[in-house]
Parts: sequence; C-alpha cells; structure tokens
Amino acid sequence: MGDKVYWNPAKLRNGHVVILGTSGSGKTQTLKALGYELPLLFPGIKIVISDFHGDLELPGEVCYPLNAESPYGLNPLVIDLDPKGGGPDLQAIAVSSILRKSLKMGDNQEGLVLNALISCYHHKGISQDNQSSWKLQPPTFADLESELQSRVEDGCKDSQKLLLKMAATFKYGIFSKPQPSMNFPIVRFDLQRF
Ligand SMILES: Nc1ncnc2c1ncn2[C@@H]1O[C@H](COP(=O)(O)OP(=O)(O)OP(=O)(O)O)[C@@H](O)[C@H]1O
Ligand SMILES: [Mg+2]
Repeated sequence: MGDKVYWNPAKLRNGHVVILGTSGSGKTQTLKALGYELPLLFPGIKIVISDFHGDLELPGEVCYPLNAESPYGLNPLVIDLDPKGGGPDLQAIAVSSILRKSLKMGDNQEGLVLNALISCYHHKGISQDNQSSWKLQPPTFADLESELQSRVEDGCKDSQKLLLKMAATFKYGIFSKPQPSMNFPIVRFDLQRF
C-alpha cells in the first residue's frame, strides 16, 4: 500500500477497467476524473459516456438526453466505414445475430431479419460493393418495421410473426430515431429517464 498505481490504456491490448465500491465510496467521482483527465493525457481521444443516473456531466461535453420524448436515438444500423471489416452487409449480419440472441430467434427468423436489413440498406441506396454509398444516411429500425410491414402486405406470414416478436423493440423507439453526431471530444448520453 502507498505505492503509486499507474494505468496506461495505450499499453493495454484492451483497456477495460472495473470500478467497484460501496455506495458513497467515490465510483462516480472516479469515472468523472477518468473522463476529465484522459483527454489531457491523450489529446484527440474520444469519450462517449452512457450515463444511466444523469450524474456524469463533464466540462466541454455535448449531452444528448435519450428518452421517449427526445428526438435522438441510438442506431445499430450505422455502418462501420472500415473497408476491410465494415459495410452494410457485415453490419446487417452483426445486428441480426444480436437480435437472434436477445429475442431468442431461430435460424429462419435470423435469416429473415438479415434479408430485411439488407433491403433497408438498398432502399437507401447503400450496398456492400459500393463503398462510397456507405457514407449515405443509414436506415433505422423504423425502416426495418416498414420493410416487415410491406412484406406482411405481400402475404409473408413469417414477417408477421417477426413483427410480433419485435413489437416491444419497435414500440420502445430508441433504435428507430436517428443517431446524433458523435463527432465531439466528449459525448454524454443521458439515459436517466429511460
Ligand atoms: N477523491 C475524492 N475526494 C473528495 N471527495 C470525493 C472523492 N471521491 C468522491 N468524493 C465525494 O464523495 C461523495 C460520494 O462519491 P460518489 O458519488 O462518487 O460515490 P459513488 O461510489 O458513485 O456512490 P453511489 O454508489 O451511491 O453512486 C460525493 O460527494 C463525492 O463528491
Ligand atoms: Mg455513483
């Protein structure tokens, strides 16, 4: 005890850290100190804060409240622009695989989501083989909902079942609103009302 403790995320392969402590022991204060000091140590670093209690405000931040009334959402369909590991198809695969796990889908439903997501990208003029199209405005879950509805109108019973399975997700709306710009040094999503 009494030795100085150093944490250098630049030297770590993955820079995760866990902060544990009883109520009032200083977890929130420590998190804020990390968020405040990191940019002084690593200029150009980007800080994105998911603030579930609404107590992580930092000087110079851009804050987006995420709640039922806010115009902002989080969009899982935003495309990774890395030419080697990004693009709409890979994003669609990643999102359908997450939905499969969280909504307990089978192979067929996962495939249907994947197919519908790729259609949503195509409707926005975005395709895997046209890299410059990746920068266009991506679809949201609102577009996925419309896509499934139009498939139901065309007589697709599986899409009807999928719509039911995803009803709560669509109703919740957080993934159906456009994602605000994260192009700032410190972005805080205020989730206290969610
Ligand atoms: N290093 C510190 N120096 C001085 N005051 C501190 C320090 N760390 C925390 N505090 C103060 O102690 C109080 C509790 O700290 P904090 O809110 O960070 O605790 P917490 O672990 O997040 O608690 P909770 O689990 O209830 O959210 C606050 O008033 C905070 O400003
Ligand atoms: Mg706290």
